[in-house]
Amino acid sequence: MSEPNGSRIPVAVLGATGAVGQTFIRLLAAHPWFRVAEVAASERSAGKPYREAAHWLEGQLPDDVGSLTVQPCDPGLVQSRIVFSALDSTVAGDLEPAFAKAGAMVLSNAKNHRMAEDVPLVIPEVNAAHLGLLAQQRRSRGWADGGGIVTNANCAATVAAMALAPLHDAFGVTRVFVVTMQAVSGAGYPGVASLDALGNVIPYIADEEPKIERELNKMLGRFDGRGIVLAPFVVSAQANRVAVEHGHLTCLSVELERPAPIERLAEALSAWSGDPVVCGLPSSPDRPLVVATRPDRPQSRRDVNAGRGMTVTVGRLRPDPLFHVKYVALGHNTIRGAAGGSILNAEVLVRQGVIGA
Ligand SMILES: NC(=O)c1ccc[n+]([C@@H]2O[C@H](COP(=O)([O-])OP(=O)(O)OC[C@H]3O[C@@H](n4cnc5c(N)ncnc54)[C@H](OP(=O)(O)O)[C@@H]3O)[C@@H](O)[C@H]2O)c1
Repeated sequence: MSEPNGSRIPVAVLGATGAVGQTFIRLLAAHPWFRVAEVAASERSAGKPYREAAHWLEGQLPDDVGSLTVQPCDPGLVQSRIVFSALDSTVAGDLEPAFAKAGAMVLSNAKNHRMAEDVPLVIPEVNAAHLGLLAQQRRSRGWADGGGIVTNANCAATVAAMALAPLHDAFGVTRVFVVTMQAVSGAGYPGVASLDALGNVIPYIADEEPKIERELNKMLGRFDGRGIVLAPFVVSAQANRVAVEHGHLTCLSVELERPAPIERLAEALSAWSGDPVVCGLPSSPDRPLVVATRPDRPQSRRDVNAGRGMTVTVGRLRPDPLFHVKYVALGHNTIRGAAGGSILNAEVLVRQGVIGA
């Protein structure tokens, strides 16, 4: 274990001007271990001061970042060895490996590399052991020293994975039916046109359902020392865009291999604190999962910021006439589902001595 106890580690944010990039900037401004030294985005933004390039949405823009000049996403120009990526998926596919090849640890939010066999798809409370894939990744890809790619999942899949992990561990999940209600910030900035979003529900989010259906099996799978053995359950997902600013709400119906009374399932969810590797890390919430007791919770407006946006709130646990149990889970899409999740992954890697020395 090697946690920094002196100066903060310089980091870069790629895609720093977008919705997730801005959440990175806000969360890192107050971070005790990391300092935003470099910001990068497209050619449209490169060369401008960050405060001009970003359409800032996150409250007070930190002064030191506002005056940084936005760089192009060129691994030859970016000096930081820890690189948080909030890049659009149209460019992340090529750019993220280019940074890893040059020796940067890339903590990615894009879909492109999540399902690659040698790339960890990580929520550390759920599957920190998957970080063991990094050694293999470095060997097989020939990255320069220190290079690598660690991804976090689709934001709705992250919320569902955290809500399913305790039940899968204790009772074995065999089938999942999940319906999501996803906030507009999940589409980035400017995202969904206001006349499409306001007063409306859009029952389609491009490519979202397949991501949820495949990523859950990888995240809840097991690292056997060589690769990930996928969790053997079936997932059916339906994704909807709703007129909410932040927070993805997921309604889950779950079949279990070893069914148990609702009270025992509720106990398993309340008692879960996940892998202790996260204990005491700066971005780790007191509780990764909270079970709401009121019958009308969780609600996006009231619960999205639980645990500074890092806690997933579940509720409405009840018997399901189709499967065994149905319930609701809510999480913050740009924090737990994106920037906050990546920062927590980086903190684990620093704690494990993989990066930041
Ligand atoms: N929003 C969420 O809740 C969420 C959650 C989980 C994962 N994600 C994923 O996170 C990534 C960012 O999402 P977002 O919502 O922040 O999107 P966004 O608001 O559209 O931001 C995209 C960012 O990518 C940059 N970019 C676009 N084209 C580029 C290019 N050719 N070269 C370099 N940079 C380029 C943009 O820079 P310019 O400003 O210069 O154009 C901007 O900084 C996506 O892969 C998304 O799928 C998003």
